[in-house]
Amino acid sequence: MPRSLCQITDFTADELKQIFELCGKMKNGEISPKPLEGKSVACIFTKASLRTRVSFEVGISELGGNAIYITDKEIKLGERESVADAAHVLSRYVGLIMIRTFKQSDVEELARHASVPIVNGLTDLVHPCQILGDYFTALEHLEPKERYSVAYVGDGNNITNSWLNLASRIPLDFRIGTAADCQPDPAIVEKARANSESRILITEDPKEAVADADVIYTDVWASMGRKHLVDEKVDKLSKYQLNNSLLALAGPKAIAMHCLPAERGREITDEVMDGPQSVVFDEAENRLHIQKAIMAFLLQ
Ligand code: CP
Ligand code: NVA
Repeated sequence: MPRSLCQITDFTADELKQIFELCGKMKNGEISPKPLEGKSVACIFTKASLRTRVSFEVGISELGGNAIYITDKEIKLGERESVADAAHVLSRYVGLIMIRTFKQSDVEELARHASVPIVNGLTDLVHPCQILGDYFTALEHLEPKERYSVAYVGDGNNITNSWLNLASRIPLDFRIGTAADCQPDPAIVEKARANSESRILITEDPKEAVADADVIYTDVWASMGRKHLVDEKVDKLSKYQLNNSLLALAGPKAIAMHCLPAERGREITDEVMDGPQSVVFDEAENRLHIQKAIMAFLLQ
């Protein structure tokens, strides 16, 4: 079975370090490998996307390959035919499969049956490419430190779960400020807590979460597929809004992050998004570089 990225925990700490190094060298132009020369990549999307679609298509082209955009209308994964059969068929045509969908189990099923690498471009459970790109962005902006403190405020979702997955592999002081019933995945929390080099704090007090943190992160309160819950989430999560007064508790050197798309005025204010501590568009750019490094790593 080829290596895939279904979740960040598919990589060891040493492999993650190699990917960040590769990303840096590819971004600064030191190396420009073409592991996809003469190959195509199937990019399956059953949810909307701007960043993931465009950054993968550009990255695939820069690695020498050709991207094929496939929506659920054509393949109806698991409905028109089994995920396993689709994996066998796609493996005869393409050198890698990228997928954004709802169920994490579909991504893992695809990886079990494909004979080419699978890259998870977001599921309801996790968004590994995003958090690997975000950690790379943090490395670019922050002074070197053994263990960064990252405060996530808002809905416990695929982004939160991916930070927890990162904390289970590399030392992180990860704090989550969220409401009692907006918690991240309990099994993923438990795995992160099993890494004795990381510290995991889950609190209902947003001020406790962000105090002196290096990174303050937020994401939409209602994720794709859950937009109908938005009013309920607004009631529960308003006090976790990332605004200037919350950011001030982290100090002037902290960076403000958001995976985007943002619902300005809801989970994050314009003053933070457009303010001097915001690195949100660097995060968006780094999706391109980190995904090129992930694909090159998996194809080596
Ligand atoms: N951050 C991110 O994955 O953006 P898209 O949903 O636009 O791909
Ligand atoms: N949590 C968000 C992330 C979007 C990139 C969602 O799943 O919609």
